[in-house]
Amino acid sequence: MDNSKIIDGKAISMQIRAEIKSETEKLKAEKGIVPGLAFILIGEDPASKVYVRSKGKACEELGFHSVTETLPGSISENALLYLINRFNADDKIHGILVQLPLPASIDQQSIIESIDHKKDVDGFHPLNVGRLQIGEKCFIPCTPYGITELLKRTGTVTEGKNAVILGRSNIVGKPVACLLLKNEFNSTVTVCHSKTKDIREITSQADILIAAIGKANFVTKDFIKEGCTIIDVGINRIEDKNSKTGYKITGDVNYDDCYDKCGKITPVPGGVGPMTIAMLMQNTLDSAKGIIYG
Ligand code: GUN
Repeated sequence: MDNSKIIDGKAISMQIRAEIKSETEKLKAEKGIVPGLAFILIGEDPASKVYVRSKGKACEELGFHSVTETLPGSISENALLYLINRFNADDKIHGILVQLPLPASIDQQSIIESIDHKKDVDGFHPLNVGRLQIGEKCFIPCTPYGITELLKRTGTVTEGKNAVILGRSNIVGKPVACLLLKNEFNSTVTVCHSKTKDIREITSQADILIAAIGKANFVTKDFIKEGCTIIDVGINRIEDKNSKTGYKITGDVNYDDCYDKCGKITPVPGGVGPMTIAMLMQNTLDSAKGIIYG
């Protein structure tokens, strides 16, 4: 199999990180500001631990200040709110990230809304969600932001193209739909979900297919149009007896099955995942510079 169709998210994210690193050095030298990011990790979810560790490592590499608070799953909502308020008031912290999902005993939306929207580098606060809808400056959620950067940096034409999104989550599906509708991208957007009828007929019209439904290998070649661009957001653990860990990570798209028919495709891992981290760093840098909310 040749590699010419691969959208190399790892390489593109490294390039973005290099840009951020030099901007960070400039910000430190000229204004004495060090971008600061606070992570809050609650409970024992193994995937969340891995994600927070990689985000913390990215901060270290880029010269950001970062703090990680690891809390037990039994923490009360009030104690969590107290901690968030402390970071809201901390001038050294420009971004606050509460890793989701939260334990069922905590009201996720109250927590999201307690974060100062000016430090909401995840872009989940209703003020940022609303501003994205109406095309105002705001923090853009990191995975959708990473997807549009991949499209831009690979010269993928979006204007007038059919973009079909599988999944309507607040973290990926809805915000990526919103972004691709902006004048900057001008796509015709369709969002499919678990109750959509004849999904295959809809995805077969897609010039750009974005899969974010959390179902391993769901998209096969009979779902896609010849030459389309596939962005695979899925990170699914499936059993793999040949692996040391007993599992392997796979996307929502059956990569091997779709490769010959598609025009371009993101691999899993090494596609969207590293871009999410790069855009989190970008949002934190922009927050430190005061270019979103001043
Ligand atoms: N859980 C899965 N994706 C994300 C994300 O982008 N941000 C946060 N805070 N939690 C997540």
